Order: sequence, then C-alpha cells, then structure tokens
Amino acid sequence: MCGIVGFAGTREAAPVLIDGLRRLEYRGYDSAGVAVSDGAAINVAKVKGYVKNLSDMTHDGADIRGRIGVGHTRWATHGAPNDVNAHPHMSSDGRFAVVHNGIIENYALLRQELTKNGYTFASDTDTEVVAHLLEMYYDGDARRAVMKAASRLEGSYSLGVICADGRLFAVREQSPLILGLGVGENYFASDVAALVPHTKNVIYLDDGEFAELTPDAITVYDVRGRAVEKPVSKVAWDVEAAEKGGYEHFMLKEIMEQPACFKATVEPRIKDGRIEFENFDLTDEELHDINRIIITACGSAGYAGQVGRYVIEELCRVPVSVELASELRYRNPIIDRHTLLVVISQSGETADTIAALRECKARGARVLAIVNVVGSTIAKLADHVIYTWAGPEIAVATTKGYTTQAAVLDMLAIWLADRLGLMEKERYDALVEALHAMPGQIQRAIDLNRGIHRLAKKLCKYNDIYFIGRNLDYAVCMEGALKLKEISYIFAEAYAAGELKHGTIALVEQGSLVVTLACYEPLFDKTMSNIEEVKARGAEVLAVALEGNRKILSKADDVIFVPRTDPLFNPIAQIVPLQLFAYYVAKERGCDIDKPKNLAKSVTVE
Ligand code: F6R
Repeated sequence: MCGIVGFAGTREAAPVLIDGLRRLEYRGYDSAGVAVSDGAAINVAKVKGYVKNLSDMTHDGADIRGRIGVGHTRWATHGAPNDVNAHPHMSSDGRFAVVHNGIIENYALLRQELTKNGYTFASDTDTEVVAHLLEMYYDGDARRAVMKAASRLEGSYSLGVICADGRLFAVREQSPLILGLGVGENYFASDVAALVPHTKNVIYLDDGEFAELTPDAITVYDVRGRAVEKPVSKVAWDVEAAEKGGYEHFMLKEIMEQPACFKATVEPRIKDGRIEFENFDLTDEELHDINRIIITACGSAGYAGQVGRYVIEELCRVPVSVELASELRYRNPIIDRHTLLVVISQSGETADTIAALRECKARGARVLAIVNVVGSTIAKLADHVIYTWAGPEIAVATTKGYTTQAAVLDMLAIWLADRLGLMEKERYDALVEALHAMPGQIQRAIDLNRGIHRLAKKLCKYNDIYFIGRNLDYAVCMEGALKLKEISYIFAEAYAAGELKHGTIALVEQGSLVVTLACYEPLFDKTMSNIEEVKARGAEVLAVALEGNRKILSKADDVIFVPRTDPLFNPIAQIVPLQLFAYYVAKERGCDIDKPKNLAKSVTVE
C-alpha cells in the first residue's frame, strides 16, 4: 500500500530517494518522507501530502545531506495522514530511522511492552514500534538489532532501516521488496519502477530474508542471519515504460498502450497457429481430474474473471465460479484436488488474493496464477503462472492490466476446450485468427471514439449512473462502472439488465443516466426492451453497440460504437471506450485521475 525506497552510494541520497518516491507515488500519496545519514547522525524530512510537497520543502532533497537513506510514500492505515504519522519514524535515541510498507498486526502488544520499558511514542502508527525495538535490541551491532526486532513482528511488512553510523538494511515479510544492483551504488524499492532509472539487475527478496546494502555490495541473510546466495534477475521493463511519455496522465497512456500490451501478451503464446503457455501445461489425466474452476481476485481483476467465466463455461462446459478473494479466504470453501483455482492479480501482491490462494492451496486446489509482476508473491506461491505482459501499470485505475487479464483468460478457455476435445479445428483456427486481429480491433475501438471527450462533457453532470447489460455485456458493466466511480467519484453501479425490474428500477427517473451495453447479440432485443423501460421512466440512455448496428440509433440518446470481433472477445473492445469515457468525465470534473482519493494501486494490506 505504501512505497519504500533505499539508497547507498557516494552521491547525495535525498534527490535519488525523492525521485524514487515520485515513481512509487501510485502506491500511496497521503504523506512522504526521507531519512538520510551522513555517517554521524540522521537527518529527516517528512510532510503530509504528495511527494511534491516533500520535494518543495527540501529543494528537491538538496537541504538534507547524507549518502545513505530511506524514503517512504504513505497510504495511511494506522493513524491519520499528517506530518507526525508520516514515515520515517525515529528511535528515541536518534540512532535508527524506519520506513515500512504493510501492517504490523501485533503492534498494540509491542507498544504496551515498549511503553512499560520507558519508550515514548510520537505517532499513532504501527511502524513506530519497530524504531523502538531496534533501539531496545541494539548492543553495538545494528544487523543483530534488525534481526531481533524483525523476529518480534507479526503481519506483513517490508522495512527500510538506516542507522546513524551509515548502515542500511531492507527486510521483507509478505510485502514486496526488490534490491537493485548498481555500479558503486545499490538500492531497494517496493517496485521495479523506482529501480529501472538506475539498474535492470535486481534481486527478489523472499519472505523472512533481509539484506544489508553498502555502495559496493548487497548481502542477503535468511531469518537466522546466515548469508544466502541469491540469483540476479534482469528486469524486462525500460525506464520509458514507467514514465508518462507525453501523455497528461498515466491512465491515458496506459489506455493507449492496450493494443501493444494485448499483442505482447498473446502473440508469443501462439506458435504455428497453436496456443502454448510457457509455464503452464497439464497432462490429460490432470486435465480430466478437474471438475470445477474457481476464479478468485479483487476489484477489476475479479471483473476480468467474470468475463473469463462466461468464455470458459461457453467453450469448456466446466462449471466456473468467480469468488471475491476477501470473502473466499474466510468462507470455509468446499475445495479439493479436483478444483483448478485461477488467481488473477496485476500486482501479484494483493493481500486478500494471497490469503485466498493460500487457503485454497492448503485444501488441495491446483493453483494457476495470471499475474503481471514477475517475481511477485502470487507468482511465487502458485503452481503455474501465466504472465500478462502489460508492462508497468502506474495509474491507480487499471486499464491494460484488465484487458491483458481478459486476453489470457480467453486464451486459456480456447486452450482448455481444445485439450478437452470440445473444439472443432475450424472453430479453433477461427478463434486464434480472431485473437491475432484483436490488437487492430482495440486500436479501432480507440479510433472510433476519438470524440468521446465531447460525450463526457455532456454527461459529466450526472450523479447517478447505472450500467446495464446481459451475459458478457453484464460482465463488462461491472468494470465500466468501477472505472467511472473510482476516478470521477460519481455513484455508478452495474446491474444485470434482466434484474433491474426486481428492485433497482425504482431508482431510475429523470436525471438518471443508464449506460446500456448492447453488444451481446443473442439477447439484443431483450436489452432493447430494457432501454424502453428506463426511458419510460425518464432516464437518459448512453448505449454501447457494435459498429453497423443501426437499430440502436432510434432507441438510445447517444451511442458509443465498437468494432465487431469474435463475440467472445467483445468485452475487450467494449471496455476501451468505457475507460476513455471514465477518464474524460473525471477530467471534466477536475479529479486527480492518476491519484484518486482514498485509493492506492497495490492493496498489500487487508
Ligand atoms: C481498479 C483496480 C483494483 C484492482 C484490485 C486488484 O481499477 O485497479 O480494483 O484491480 O485492487 O489488484 P491486483 O490486480 O493488483 O490484485
């Protein structure tokens, strides 16, 4: 939820740390801070609000001197977002400064114990206990203090610690942390986005491990303090991928990247007209052993799962349910070794999704993860991984993450149906052909809607927006409504069109906008009847329909057209203009699009 960075080098640390925090700001933007050591003492600067406030306050870091340091950008969990609760937190003797991402679940008990021992607390955070534990355990050896303090913590945390004498440590437990190896300087960060301007050589820490960084070396230790050899990986993303590239917002850039991301995700998996996954295959026996599929995820990843459910059931005739990870983890689910659990996550670090994965795995499920971030916790925990090659997604509202997840689910459905012997060769070839055509179709969905900002200007006045549709259209409604509400703060909700008359239509009146998705042709006439119903109650209708559909023009007040694809892939083309619509509505309403209020990109806490 928060972002942490660390630096050890021979140049000034603060400007490097602040630049890193800017790149991690999507993870939280309630407050920001840095602590640097000049070898004798620790200098701290922290402030409520965006990283820009920190940078303004310190003249881009020039005011705080020291060559080793840690930084933090916060999404508040314990304690209000203010200057005092901002990280870093200091030990009372000024020897240690700590930054933290995650939640220390036993902090209340530790705080009680430390208070009894005479330590006083300046903040309301869970993190501050770590600073005092470090002081309590310090006996002249900072590394031993870090190890002992970490052994007292329960929960999820990645920590950055500096000692006044200039030593720098990073600790990982169930929260992302990556080490970067430079030349004459080394780094750590919650995400590679902060490392790629400096290096592509990284080490993924595992849970329970910690590291000491100096300008010349990184040494990784296990939980008992024994040095461990870690492989060095190469990051495939380049620095441009994590920058705005001339767009006003990351969200717009990422919407526009979707044709390329779809292609990067799909093309390498089609060899000689056949779908093959590099890290996922099952024997015939294993395949026939599966009697149900459960898809679990949170938010948009779950909505991509809803699309997947329709496509997999349609093609594979296997029962599929989509379960919210936050519910599944506590539901005592009926799962056994005949269940294939498909876990979807852009970040690979979502706390609820990780917990649901662990729970279902413990009950015997085979776990396939669809993940964007290489080396993430979910990728490590799963039995099989299919990566979405969307590149770094920085905007809080996911766009290319969602469409590439849907792309993988479509491929998975075709692959499964074929392996189960349920698909004629002609249909298989046609679907593979249609997949190849999708990047062009996504581009067309963008091009057909170049004027969508005008529609957004006209419709941004609405405060209640209903998204309705049937079958695959309904699945897309869920994501369309979420996109709009999270960045424009308009109340928007998705309803299955046929369900409207069972209650919700009571809310529809003059002043309501009903966005009607009408691309699922087998039920088009039924959806048209729903349009009549809401119009009869005074609602304005914005429809989404397939290019060439003229019938819709007489029914809807406005229409967004999308290109015709194979009907199973319509959701991918449909969501693109809805993302653009949400973007421009939010812009019209003056919202901070890349940093929506109360949200953060990666929900690594429960
Ligand atoms: C919405 C959004 C969230 C995420 C959800 C899961 O735009 O981004 O709803 O989809 O928090 O995140 P991941 O995919 O990282 O597990």
